[in-house]
Amino acid sequence: MFQSSLYSGDRTKDYELTIKQLEALIKDEPDHIANLSNASALLNQFLTDINWVGFYIWKENELVLGPFQGLPACVRIGFGKGVCGTAVKERKTQRVADVLAFPGHIACDSASRSEIVIPIIKDGQVFGVLDIDSPNENRFDETDQTYLERFVNVLERYL
Ligand code: SME
Repeated sequence: MFQSSLYSGDRTKDYELTIKQLEALIKDEPDHIANLSNASALLNQFLTDINWVGFYIWKENELVLGPFQGLPACVRIGFGKGVCGTAVKERKTQRVADVLAFPGHIACDSASRSEIVIPIIKDGQVFGVLDIDSPNENRFDETDQTYLERFVNVLERYL
């Protein structure tokens, strides 16, 4: 059974634990929807001050909404569009301290103020992105980026 009570309050230790929990949740399950659903639920119960966390999956030249936690969101995002499409175009994490200052940002939840989007690359191809929104400006720092990229690395290994 999954236990959330194991977190210590030490951010880096708790990120390490979350990454181990992810591996335990997905390693024996081949179904992508099931694994991404559990991955979004895992991040949602661990991260504080977020209002949306989930996945967009690359399908026929656009991103399509995948498993997530939060308010209903825009379903399709084109290559190079918004923060998510930019992460796909550049194949690089986008850490946006103030979404209102990001040209072309797509507002799905008007409460969002900062955002991090990490591309998921499988066998050299874009599989999709992990997208996390916060109602606070500048919510995500370098430590978040490092550990969330490691979280995505685990997904890349098992997807
Ligand atoms: N803000 C994103 C759109 C997705 S929502 O945040 C869930 C973007 O600009 O690509």
